[in-house]
Amino acid sequence: MKVIIPVAGFGTRLRPHTLHNPKVLLNVGGKPMIHYIIDQLIKDKIASSIILVTGFLGDKIKEYLNSTFDFDFDYVEQAEAKGLGHAVYCAKSVFKNKNDETLIILGDTLFDVDLKKMIRNENSVIGVKVVDDPRRFGVVEKDDQNLITRFVEKPASAEVSPSNEAIVGLYYLKNSKKLFESLEYVMNNNITVKGEFQLTDALENMINNKEKMTTFNVEGWLDCGKPETLLETNRYLLQKRSKKSSAEKSHSAKYKNSKIIEPVYIGKNVKIENSIIGPYATINDNCVIKNSIVQDSILDKYSSIENITLTESIIGEGANVKRNALKLSIGNYSEI
Ligand code: UTP
Repeated sequence: MKVIIPVAGFGTRLRPHTLHNPKVLLNVGGKPMIHYIIDQLIKDKIASSIILVTGFLGDKIKEYLNSTFDFDFDYVEQAEAKGLGHAVYCAKSVFKNKNDETLIILGDTLFDVDLKKMIRNENSVIGVKVVDDPRRFGVVEKDDQNLITRFVEKPASAEVSPSNEAIVGLYYLKNSKKLFESLEYVMNNNITVKGEFQLTDALENMINNKEKMTTFNVEGWLDCGKPETLLETNRYLLQKRSKKSSAEKSHSAKYKNSKIIEPVYIGKNVKIENSIIGPYATINDNCVIKNSIVQDSILDKYSSIENITLTESIIGEGANVKRNALKLSIGNYSEI
């Protein structure tokens, strides 16, 4: 099976962090987000080929993957970010007109899911998650045999929404020929949403051409596309990995006058003094933290923090955040 991972977007919602670093290399829980996706694919041994669709800062992604994994990746370029449908279409050359099973995974979304179970199906499968409020998502409509009949983008209300099963960004398609034909249909007919070619329009076209698609429930859907979801995913990964028992003691003992509250990730060569770290802090290699409290935050490598309380923060590589201690003379009942 061929796996397509589109990573060509600009990641504007995560600026300034994505100005010099591609979104998929942003660190979450101690590793770049793309690392978790590739790691799982290689461990599961389900991919004959992994195709990265690169664009903006694509060379950095190439460099990271080639130097980290012992796998022969395919790279194709999306010269202009014209939408997810267009990004997937860029992978066509690797298929060489052959028909192949295809798995599409968004590069900025992690899934805590049994992929092998998901693809064990006679039909194509779309990953979904039941959500309370379907208005912010693309949702599926299904018939009584559990087959998808329609995709609806951002329904106006829960009442008019055909279901509350939101599309999460994981697609297993049995027939790559039909996929590329449908993408061609969408592009030739200039079917766009906000100027971009959408994958769901091609999937809808496949259904109209009698392709059978069903859904698979993905409980662990970890979006990394916005600061708040990146931090949420960071919490999830740290929690999952935490082996509470001895880690807390051994960590705290390593750093001068400091308390480490698990779950945390602390990289190599980190200096911590007079500080409280955690819960839910990812501190990458070579950071320096003094007289500070850091919780629910991600610090990239070589950043340095002094005299500050940080929460729900993302600090870029080499950034220096320092506050002078306050000298105050405050009257009764004042508020600062
Ligand atoms: P998003 O819709 O999150 O777009 O793409 P984006 O550019 O990454 O981020 P924002 O919206 O500007 O903040 C979901 C996935 O699809 C890829 C992205 O790289 C991301 O992995 N994508 C999107 C492409 O490869 N090409 C595109 O034209 C659009």
